[in-house]
Amino acid sequence: MSFKTIIEPFKIKEVEPISVTSEEERVQYLKDAHYNPFMLKSEQVLIDFLTDSGTSAMSSRQWAAMMEADEAYAGSKSWHRMEAVIKDLTGYNYILPTHQGRAAERILYSHLGGKGKVFISNTHFDTTRANIEFSGAEAIDIPIEEAKHPMLDHPFKGNIDTKALEELILKYGAENIGGVILTVTNNSGGGQPVSMFNAKEAQKICQKYKVRYFIDCCRIAENAYYIKHREAGYENKSYKQIAQEMFALADGGVMSAKKDGLVNMGGFLALKDKKLADECTNLLIITEGFATYGGLSGRSMEAISVGLEEVFEPAYLQYRIRSTAYLGEKLYKMGVPLIYPIGGHAVYIDAKAFYQHIPVNEYPGQAMVCELYLKGGIRSVEIGSVMFGKYDKERKLIPAPNELVRLAIPRRVYTQSHIEYVIEVFEKILIGKDEVRGVKIVEEPEFLRHFTAKFERLNKT
Ligand code: F0G
Repeated sequence: MSFKTIIEPFKIKEVEPISVTSEEERVQYLKDAHYNPFMLKSEQVLIDFLTDSGTSAMSSRQWAAMMEADEAYAGSKSWHRMEAVIKDLTGYNYILPTHQGRAAERILYSHLGGKGKVFISNTHFDTTRANIEFSGAEAIDIPIEEAKHPMLDHPFKGNIDTKALEELILKYGAENIGGVILTVTNNSGGGQPVSMFNAKEAQKICQKYKVRYFIDCCRIAENAYYIKHREAGYENKSYKQIAQEMFALADGGVMSAKKDGLVNMGGFLALKDKKLADECTNLLIITEGFATYGGLSGRSMEAISVGLEEVFEPAYLQYRIRSTAYLGEKLYKMGVPLIYPIGGHAVYIDAKAFYQHIPVNEYPGQAMVCELYLKGGIRSVEIGSVMFGKYDKERKLIPAPNELVRLAIPRRVYTQSHIEYVIEVFEKILIGKDEVRGVKIVEEPEFLRHFTAKFERLNKT
């Protein structure tokens, strides 16, 4: 028997109150935060869709495991447990624990990078790109053509362009390629999945030219869900088997466990090659911690061990993917333009299409982020010209390719009625949309300006 309603496959044992605010209060809070929700206090937020990273609710099994944790400096049993779980999942022999994803990235890419090196990816996540560029190397994104069209339907819009991959390897010379990185799912491209076929094609090219191949696997369980349900030949495999098959293709994986590890902090680097692992371990010990804990407490390692198993449970993954899609599909039917199909961890709204009257240099994405907070207390993030815009020599804005707003859904945190409320907030926003004006930046730092920039709202003319 199958049902239309997908229920949350858990019941609530402990609750964290949400502070319910009024619109009048939010007007003041947002003004005090200079119209930048990164500067809001979380207690001023009703529904926090800023990120799905580190915001998961942990299970009673995870909390129980944390009580059993061993905090020994060297060789703790919590480390051995985590190492065994990751070895089993990835099939790699060398596991380096780190405090989060970017620490693993820094170790691996500073070691393989440097001036003259090139990394190629379906899309490098910001911290991946930043770590590569900080080493002096170059990071090139080659998503498939379909990924560049927000509304175009495609089952695996996260795929890497394999033709471009081979051309780039030939252009730069295989010896200059620091690595090929497959980000699953492709976060910056809308949380879109990568097919096993595509992962295999990329592997063949890497093998042919003897180029290292890595997986940024922080949402690999969500990616496995799509493969099982969208790619022929995987119907009868388990989600974990699918992930294992993908890991087997690569030379290593970098994971921010703050996503599909279902924990609040943690990550790892997992490698096939002993020599590379030994070299990275030296960096790990200098900057993160001893090899049997890296940047992690025993408690965190226990929580990751359990989380990495729970995340592959069919009822969990079905709830996870379907509940994100539910929100996206409802908004889409209401006429909210968004990246389609809906990705696994977030709904990405096309703010430029929504606020057609707001020019890009008045930041339509930031205007929407402000409206969502004012009308409904929802915190979201702009992924557009505030985040990625640059200036030319005359300080004229070179806009980002898209003006998006990301609603990232924390795992196991919100219920269906929270989601219904978010949908209702959008109904209100749709009604008043033509009255909304953009924003201007009044203060900004030189790097990563979206975190701390200050804005003013523009008045009606
Ligand atoms: N790779 C991907 C694909 C990510 O989405 C992230 C983080 C990282 C690497 C870095 O991991 O935060 O543990 O250092 N993404 C978060 C987000 C921040 O909101 O999408 P980290």
